Amino acid sequence: MNFPRRRLRRLRRTAALRNLVAESRLHPSDLIAPLFVREGMDEPRPISSMPGQFQHTRQSLRQEVAELHQLGIANVILFGIPEHKDVSGSQAWNPKGILQTALADLKTDLGDEIVLIADLCMDEYTDHGHCGVLDTHGNVDNDETLKNYARIAEAQAAAGADVVAPSGMMDGQVDAIRSTLDTSGFYQTAILAYSAKYATSLYGPFRDAVEVAIAGGGNRRAYQQDTSNAREAMEEIRFDLDEGADMVMVKPALPYLDVISKARRTFDAPLAAYHVSGEYSMVCAAAERGWLDLDSVAYEHISAVRRAGADMIITYFARRLATIMSSQ
Ligand code: PBG
Repeated sequence: MNFPRRRLRRLRRTAALRNLVAESRLHPSDLIAPLFVREGMDEPRPISSMPGQFQHTRQSLRQEVAELHQLGIANVILFGIPEHKDVSGSQAWNPKGILQTALADLKTDLGDEIVLIADLCMDEYTDHGHCGVLDTHGNVDNDETLKNYARIAEAQAAAGADVVAPSGMMDGQVDAIRSTLDTSGFYQTAILAYSAKYATSLYGPFRDAVEVAIAGGGNRRAYQQDTSNAREAMEEIRFDLDEGADMVMVKPALPYLDVISKARRTFDAPLAAYHVSGEYSMVCAAAERGWLDLDSVAYEHISAVRRAGADMIITYFARRLATIMSSQ
């Protein structure tokens, strides 16, 4: 055999050599932990379809975020679950609503040592489970919805959110939110836009977590992106950046690595990816059966999202990965 002089296995021989030539790395500061806070409970409740995840009380959320901070996870994205949902989702912009009080608690506890991201949407708050205002035909009215998103943005910014993250996929949502934040003096509040958010079947466990059922067995295909499209995602991201988004996102993560990679090559803005509830729960379920090793699959999956080009990853594995990384 005539081998070339350069041989690839030489640099795989030891862990130290492999580390030296690693092309991408995971660090706790790349990770954002998604957390749920629910109004009207005394004890945190486990979410059965998301092993290891909880609906937190205000108090248990403070504890969880303090522990994450100790582990080096200084970024969280919060979802609120109100005790009472209504047709307009009004608890979403109530200054005393659950998400706003939780944001204020965490700002008091940790100040600028953590990045507080507020998911900005209405589905957790509406009794019909859609991400916006319904018209007389039961369709989500884009421009009426924008008015509510603007109200929510203001309430979240006032409560202490460093970043608001609109996830409803309405056209013009970033523009509406940026205008309101600027006119009400919150020009320092950043926007992480869920730009390329797909109408995937992988959000199922999340909907258990936030107690959302879409009325009439409906779906979100009239506003979230069709799973067939990658070029359209670039248009979504371009629109959001033009409207003033500071950071953009692709969601879910693993089935859309092509989109993440394309977005990385096309845009220079900070790029997030959301490894969603279904992606998380599939791995947990297989591990529970003893079919996979949870920690190593979690690490491999989240590393793949990083390698594809995401600067930051929202993942329910954040805490577990931080623990693994601290022992490496
Ligand atoms: C909407 C929202 C959803 C998720 C984050 N924000 C659900 C949806 O669009 O139906 C899903 C996150 C996950 O599955 O982990 N507010």
